[in-house]
Amino acid sequence: MTIAHDESVLIVDFGSQVTQLIARRVREAGVYSEIAPFSSAEAAFHRMKPKGIILSGGPASVTEDGSPRAPEAILNSGLPILGICYGQQTLTQQLGGTVEGGGEKGGEFGRAFIEITDRCRLFDGLWKEGEAHQVWMSHGDKVTALAPGFRSVASSPGAPYAVIADDERCFYAMQFHPEVVHTPDGGKLIANFVRHVCGCRGDWSMAEFKAAKIAEIRAQVGSSRVICGLSGGVDSAVAAVLIHEAIGDQLTCVFVDHGLMRMGEADQVVSLFKGHYNIPLVHVQAEALFLGGLAGVTDPEQKRKFIGKTFIDVFESEARKIGGAEFLAQGTLYPDVIESVSFTGGPSVTIKSHHNVGGLPERMNMKLVEPLRELFKDEVRALGRELGLPDVFVGRHPFPGPGLAIRIPGEVTRERCDILRKADAIYLDEIRNAGLYDAIWQAFAVLLPVKTVGVMGDGRTYDSVCALRAVTSTDGMTADIYPFDSSFLQRTATRIINEVKGINRVVYDYTSKPPGTIEWE
Ligand code: XMP
Repeated sequence: MTIAHDESVLIVDFGSQVTQLIARRVREAGVYSEIAPFSSAEAAFHRMKPKGIILSGGPASVTEDGSPRAPEAILNSGLPILGICYGQQTLTQQLGGTVEGGGEKGGEFGRAFIEITDRCRLFDGLWKEGEAHQVWMSHGDKVTALAPGFRSVASSPGAPYAVIADDERCFYAMQFHPEVVHTPDGGKLIANFVRHVCGCRGDWSMAEFKAAKIAEIRAQVGSSRVICGLSGGVDSAVAAVLIHEAIGDQLTCVFVDHGLMRMGEADQVVSLFKGHYNIPLVHVQAEALFLGGLAGVTDPEQKRKFIGKTFIDVFESEARKIGGAEFLAQGTLYPDVIESVSFTGGPSVTIKSHHNVGGLPERMNMKLVEPLRELFKDEVRALGRELGLPDVFVGRHPFPGPGLAIRIPGEVTRERCDILRKADAIYLDEIRNAGLYDAIWQAFAVLLPVKTVGVMGDGRTYDSVCALRAVTSTDGMTADIYPFDSSFLQRTATRIINEVKGINRVVYDYTSKPPGTIEWE
């Protein structure tokens, strides 16, 4: 980052999977933060001149030789420090306390309740003595003797020093993870630390994030050229508009239109980019290529693999035609980054091969620009609004890369895509009319390869079944069904059957995730 912030918090990363969530909570408290790996934290500390430091969790054990430590310069700086999990353990050990390994049966994992045993500034306005609160634990080792100056202010059966405080030095530390949603008050604890203990005003905003990213992109790219693949979705659009603000016409966008988009969507993308933003855009109409290749394919993974590979082939050949681009821009979000890393450290099972341009940079020997890498979906939306993208565009539900192909179990044909597009448009129209669009994470229609008998007028019909799906979610990893009232479903079903030729029955999908996935394929 090249922009100076008069108020910032440094997050020292010891390798936890959820360090970015700490940064997110700090941003939510209106404070700018940067994450620095422990090995370069001292340099970041001198450069940033932060108002406070947070030490993250991590997979190592402080009882092992060579495990990472917080820089002494930070411990001696006189600034407030918050240690989380591993951060608590290394802080304790470095300041003269004791940490013991969990051994085979030690440790606490998952939901736990801590009892508040004393007051401290972290709890101000939040937790009181004698109360019990839910937190998320994930630790093997634990603190067994406090460093001088500390006292315990909360405990759990597995961690007598669940939260510890040294008010004089403004050092606080906890065994649990306040940054994850399963610690319901965790965001408030972090906000108390950065605002109340570190004294930050909390007036940092997405506008500043935008300015910092623009400066960063300019520094990274220089006078080189960048190409960006647009999927039609929010993430790649926000990345493209941000990069265009930074480097103007050094950016060319390529929109590979696979013909599997929703009603009117391809036109929207083209008019937004060409018309509104005047961003150089190559619109590749490749419907015939995609539908041709999908003919006869019914296996979901085969569909996904064909679409992913063809997308890359088309994109690559367009990029070569444009020529001279050194950088490839992608709208990768933080959940994409974590999903690709296994939480357990072991191999994770592939449920679906997600479609993205992974592998392309190596194949084309290009460098990556990924300005959204540390953001979550709702933050990307806020950034999109900051960049002036229309609300209806920015607020759109997520849409999968393989598009309608994975919402048409069985063979995908142009005719079936058209039928599905019409049903989907009616469903979304009804949802918008009912004022429910923003309350739902994702809603879409699925066209089933099943025909049933019906009666319309005096005639017999024998047509396809359409399934409607709507879910709530915070990140797409887990989801609950949206509980429409029956009059909404009746109205929508009637409209779809009356207005869409080829569908004579509508059903509603009541499956949460897990055990279902959001998409049907
Ligand atoms: P599932 O179906 O795995 O979907 O529960 C979780 C979220 O991911 C979206 N999704 C995709 N997004 N490429 C994408 O960019 C894909 O191949 C893909 N498959 C699923 C899905 O719409 C939901 O939001």
